[in-house]
Amino acid sequence: MRQSEVKGILDRWVIGTSGRSYMAGLENRPVIARAEGSTVYDTEGRAYLDFGSGQMAAALGHNHPHILAAMERSAATILHSTKTFLNVDRLRLHEKLGELLTPPLQKSLFLVSGSDAVEAAVDLARRATGGSDVLGLHTGLHGSTSFVTRSLSFVWSRRHHVLNAPATSAIFAPYCYRCPLAMTFPVCEIRCLTASMELADANFTAPPAAVIVEPVLSAGGVVEPPPGYLQALRDACDQRGMLLIFDESQAGLGKTGRMWAHQHSGVVPDIMVVSKHFGGGLPISAVCASAEVAERAVANGFFATRSHAADPVLCAAGLASLEVVVEDDLPARAARIERRIKDAFAALAREIELIGDVRGRGVLLGIELVTDRETRAPANSEAKAVLEFCENAGLLLQLRGTGDRRNVLRLVPPMTTSDEDIDRGISILENAIRAAVGAAKPVKRAAKRRPAQAK
Ligand SMILES: Cc1ncc(COP(=O)(O)O)c(C=O)c1O
Repeated sequence: MRQSEVKGILDRWVIGTSGRSYMAGLENRPVIARAEGSTVYDTEGRAYLDFGSGQMAAALGHNHPHILAAMERSAATILHSTKTFLNVDRLRLHEKLGELLTPPLQKSLFLVSGSDAVEAAVDLARRATGGSDVLGLHTGLHGSTSFVTRSLSFVWSRRHHVLNAPATSAIFAPYCYRCPLAMTFPVCEIRCLTASMELADANFTAPPAAVIVEPVLSAGGVVEPPPGYLQALRDACDQRGMLLIFDESQAGLGKTGRMWAHQHSGVVPDIMVVSKHFGGGLPISAVCASAEVAERAVANGFFATRSHAADPVLCAAGLASLEVVVEDDLPARAARIERRIKDAFAALAREIELIGDVRGRGVLLGIELVTDRETRAPANSEAKAVLEFCENAGLLLQLRGTGDRRNVLRLVPPMTTSDEDIDRGISILENAIRAAVGAAKPVKRAAKRRPAQAK
């Protein structure tokens, strides 16, 4: 497809890709034609290592054969089914997911997107507690549906929305590299949380319902709370009769090097959200809770549903993705990838000041670029240059950050990526960072390969 044709279609037929819109500039980017494993191909036949795992939902690699086989089996029997009847794939998925959950988490309900499941999680907490207020971290992201999830996605300015949901407000995120209270861990004694809760208590006008957090904040710049933070949050919730919701949409199912991100802290939430690569590339999500919380919420009228939520094809893909994560021990693989990437960039950071911080867990990693390590001034333009260099050299990444900062390179390579491809990605990124500080090593343009199915 020619660039002029792409632009013509965007200009005439597509909402919201021009000017200053959120998705602006798509016409200048490659048009994806197909993918396999950790590689995507554009319509020009150029290959890219996908260190974004698509939109973080291809963490098993693109078109994993086990997922494709499950889809084929479903296609030969039944793709879609009414939600008012049970189906075998749905039952098997509840059973398998339930066995993998950390007790007392046990029961699940399926929806389609991460946003759906977050909405259901908030509703579940409100029904179970009878409370209303829900707090989220000020750099957190929980979805894009109106009303509740985008109102809790403080990392996108809430001023973008016409209306925001009542009883949703922010507390400080534990972003230690840029502490909102200008303190240092552990001397701070996690003051960001105690100060936030004191303020929240003053603002509540009714009993509160829940706090929702990502155990590793992804869109907010790949921020991991410091040791003890999640336990302190658990205690703060218990003291107030609030439920703790972990949104493991991004961090769950092996990506952080454990099956669930909360296992690193030992803190078990009351409610958990699972999405992204849960469907191995197809859209299915789950809200999970203990039997006690689920039953209390249902007794008080909780329900959530979508027409496609229990489609056999989605449930079959979900079941297959859980099998791949467990049988191929992808959490261990993610932990090995983390060490490989962190070692490489820790070494580069000794040489290059631009690298301010390297953080994250497993295959959910962030490199924060700064122009000065003392002031930690965000290196926005350098980060953009790194991204462009990588794209030209055949590596896809995403830029993240908070407020005016777009200076965190987010790396989410599929957990199935080979060591060779991880090293190739590291080498491209290393060259990009060197180029951004004016010490470029030559880099070859991405190999032009003509894939069979490219359109
Ligand atoms: C942590 C988290 N929760 C929820 C969502 C929303 O998921 P979806 O886009 O599938 O609705 C996202 C999306 O990126 C996310 O990162």
